[in-house]
Amino acid sequence: MTTPSGGEYVHGTHRSEQERLSLMNKILNERTLAELAIREGDHVLDIGSGLGQMSIAIARRAGTGGRVIGVERSSEQIEKAVAAFRVSGLGPRQIDFRVGDATEPPLLPGESGSFDVCFTRFLLEHVPDPLAVVRRMVQAAKPNGRIVLADDDHELLKLHPEPSGFTEVWRAYIELYRRNRNDPMVGRRLVQLLHQAGATPTRNTWVWFGACSGNDMFEPVVNNLAGVLQGAAPRLEAEGLVDGEAMQYLCGVTLPEFAQRPDAAVWFAMSLSEGVKPAQ
Ligand SMILES: C[S@@+](CC[C@H](N)C(=O)[O-])C[C@H]1O[C@@H](n2cnc3c(N)ncnc32)[C@H](O)[C@@H]1O
Repeated sequence: MTTPSGGEYVHGTHRSEQERLSLMNKILNERTLAELAIREGDHVLDIGSGLGQMSIAIARRAGTGGRVIGVERSSEQIEKAVAAFRVSGLGPRQIDFRVGDATEPPLLPGESGSFDVCFTRFLLEHVPDPLAVVRRMVQAAKPNGRIVLADDDHELLKLHPEPSGFTEVWRAYIELYRRNRNDPMVGRRLVQLLHQAGATPTRNTWVWFGACSGNDMFEPVVNNLAGVLQGAAPRLEAEGLVDGEAMQYLCGVTLPEFAQRPDAAVWFAMSLSEGVKPAQ
């Protein structure tokens, strides 16, 4: 899929990708929400809102006086988000999902410069010009409004004992981001992006996640990782970055075996940085 702002979206929007996103949402939403510290009545812009689970969770925190606008490029994702919103029990004014590009969010007159919080998660790693997106977020925030960026730094993933062949494939996966003109390490640039976009950085952290054998989340997390790599396999092969058979073996045999080991562990972390729009 080609993005309007250039590059390719490494994950695609097929069903297995949507199931993967839902799992990641379950794992990460509570922790992200704790960091986001939404207040009653907040008006929030969620850029690259995907399946909308996080937007819905934010809207619950913002309450009936709050409002969330989710902007997402894929109409397929928006349809799923709207379906989830319809059964969420939230009121019709609490969320508005809009199809649009992160670099030109479809805001109505008066909306730009009005948001209490502008948020994005796992989007900046998929755009060729993350600074352009963060600039639009700063524009969209009200004076003293908060801009919260959360994204990946793919060097933070660790598996132990390291499954055979994993490092090579993970490096290839990281290289695919670069070939798509995206930054696989954008997580470490979040504070810098806030500064370059005119916000005052105020906070920087990692949202950590770890699991191990004997933990309920361990197998789903490893399977999710295999799913991420399998989803990218056609592109990785087409780019000549992996050998197809070795890739299938890693995803179909080595990683599932790793998931069953009694001594295995996995860690990853999502970078999260916050800034404030100067009052001027
Ligand atoms: C990995 S998902 C993250 C979704 C959501 N933010 C979350 O944390 O669950 C990235 C989303 O960004 C969307 N996306 C990618 N490039 C975009 C762009 N240029 N403008 C708007 N959305 C974009 C994708 O379609 C996808 O739904």
